[in-house]
Amino acid sequence: MNTKRILWGSATSSFQIEGGSTADGKGPSIWDTFCRTPGKISDQSNGDFACDHYHRFREDIALMKDLGLETYRFSIAWPRIVPLGSGAINSKGFDFYEQLVDELLAQGIEPYPTLYHWDLPQALQDIGGWTHPDISLRFAEYTSAVVARLADRVKKWTTLNEPHVFTWLGHGIGIHAPGITDKRQFSLSIRNALLAHGRGAQAIRAIDPSLQVGIANCWPVIQPLEPQFEAAAHKLDQITNRIFIDPIIHGTVPEFAREFLASVDVHISPEDLRIMHQPLDFVGINYYMRMLASETGNPAKPFNLAHPRYDGAQITDVGWEVYPDGLETVLKIFREEYGNLPLYITENGAAYNDIPGADGAIHDARRVDYYRRHIEAVLKAQRAGSDICGYFAWSLMDNFEWSHGYAQRFGLVYVDYENNCQRIPKDSALWYKNWIRDSHSMPSPQ
Ligand code: FCB
Repeated sequence: MNTKRILWGSATSSFQIEGGSTADGKGPSIWDTFCRTPGKISDQSNGDFACDHYHRFREDIALMKDLGLETYRFSIAWPRIVPLGSGAINSKGFDFYEQLVDELLAQGIEPYPTLYHWDLPQALQDIGGWTHPDISLRFAEYTSAVVARLADRVKKWTTLNEPHVFTWLGHGIGIHAPGITDKRQFSLSIRNALLAHGRGAQAIRAIDPSLQVGIANCWPVIQPLEPQFEAAAHKLDQITNRIFIDPIIHGTVPEFAREFLASVDVHISPEDLRIMHQPLDFVGINYYMRMLASETGNPAKPFNLAHPRYDGAQITDVGWEVYPDGLETVLKIFREEYGNLPLYITENGAAYNDIPGADGAIHDARRVDYYRRHIEAVLKAQRAGSDICGYFAWSLMDNFEWSHGYAQRFGLVYVDYENNCQRIPKDSALWYKNWIRDSHSMPSPQ
């Protein structure tokens, strides 16, 4: 039985918390542009100030330390490092991440960075972004620059966050930056994202072969809405989940994903696969939900994916079902079908928009229940033999939740946007603190 000590942490991303959107030479990202496109962000907000983490990172690390976090997942903003996407490097952008990493290490918290969490430099979008044939080369150059600077202190590198989301929501249905709705551009972005991961992995190992490389993929569990939709669920699983891991771990493309891409003349060649199929040291899994698949009979949109709705369903404020069994299912899939690689749950959490009560505290009991049940699912998977290395609660604090703006709150820590972004740990933060403290004094799981 695997009784490895799990590292407990929390996660954020650059655009969602940093602010400082033009500070110290940072270039614009596609999310800066998207936020200024009318109708895209439900509360018309943007990331200009966000949680002002750019200026308050020491305070935030002190908060992490107080909560007893052992690791912290954050992302590096490409446009801070390479403001125009390629070419000149902005050394002040590095200064920020160096100080962040140094402060984390000084407080005994392991830094766990992601190189791309969706804030592509706008200058690269202007020439085609993720659909440009050379985008993976640009990503590898940026990766080399970052890793060369931080490899002496950071040992685990995650290339991309949720390629499914930034390709599909960004290029398929257009509800995320850059707001494109085109099947061919969606398909090109899939291929190029996988190439970027592969070239990024090569770039990391070229700097130091002992560095560890992973990717953070979301994995909604897809089930048929009715038994007759089994085939639909299988196909949607391929184009949503498997396409972003099979080429990397197995060096293969799932059959339906291959057909889907070929229908718009996008092909993953054997040479592409050689680049994508780099050894992975760990897999990051972002788990939030189950989705139900059906067939529509409409050739223009043959499949549908819906959030489960049934009597007694527990639904978070953003409309996602609470389904901890799904996390166990995903971890089992990785144990049984993907070689039982070391796993990190790189995101897991819930939007509950509780506000301070009369006593000034945030009694987010539903979030406490959510974490309790999902962490139990993680421990069950560990008992069944999954190699679980870490768990990151999404998120450390309330932040800019993409197209929802600041209206959806995922934080363990409340951010009072009306009051200079004051941070107030919620009941869930205190629960997590106790959990971390107690989990290491308990006997190993039996
Ligand atoms: C994930 C994203 C993360 C956050 C959570 C709620 O898909 O990776 O940035 O928005 O959802």
